[in-house]
Amino acid sequence: MRLDVLTLFPDMFPGYLGQSILNKAIERGLVEIHVHNMRDWATGKHKKIDDEPYGGGPGMVLMVDPVVNCVRDVQKMAAEPGQVIMLTPQGRRLNQPFVEELAVKPRLIVLCGRYEGFDQRVFDILNPIELSIGDYILNGGEVASMVLIDSLVRMVPGVLGDELSNWDDSFSRGNRLLEHPQYTRPREFEGHEVPEVLLSGNHPAIEEWRKQKGLENTKLKRSDLLDSDPANE
Ligand code: ADE
Repeated sequence: MRLDVLTLFPDMFPGYLGQSILNKAIERGLVEIHVHNMRDWATGKHKKIDDEPYGGGPGMVLMVDPVVNCVRDVQKMAAEPGQVIMLTPQGRRLNQPFVEELAVKPRLIVLCGRYEGFDQRVFDILNPIELSIGDYILNGGEVASMVLIDSLVRMVPGVLGDELSNWDDSFSRGNRLLEHPQYTRPREFEGHEVPEVLLSGNHPAIEEWRKQKGLENTKLKRSDLLDSDPANE
């Protein structure tokens, strides 16, 4: 999978991309991530990327020409032009089925917005999939794009040590239960003990316990998952 991130703040990314699972996935060549500074496509002495809104009002609007030119040039950097994704609070809300839908695409061009958003013609011309990570307003799309990248990279075959664990996670297609509790050493801490069944070596009993606890957890914390259809989210 190849991801191209288009942002005005490229320096936000190396720290995050350089750690842990992401870093290993990149080093092993399982994902390719390129970060581009949209300002490099701005023209004129001042490299202007945003301007005042026509009709007046507060804030600045990202200009159509540098953004569209940037996307077009970046698309030409690989044989596959890729699906354009726009991070915006107005988009379809990201959830695990949506992640799985996007994870099978060979290339995504991820546009991070700032300020009052993009000139409407960016949408009209590029026809992106608009994606939100939740009903709250961030300062820009960068953190949202990292959330998207993080959730996508886990889905790439070979990225996780345990191949099963990504498909086994809560919220995957067909799985609407939260995880069961986990314990590790020590067996007792300040009077809190590990449940006996986990120490029993009785694997059918452990499985049953885990299923029960997952269900209890879901009822307690996210009962909405039990009666909702992911297709409607
Ligand atoms: N940009 C600003 N807020 C956002 C959100 N909630 N999701 C995606 N992009 C955003």
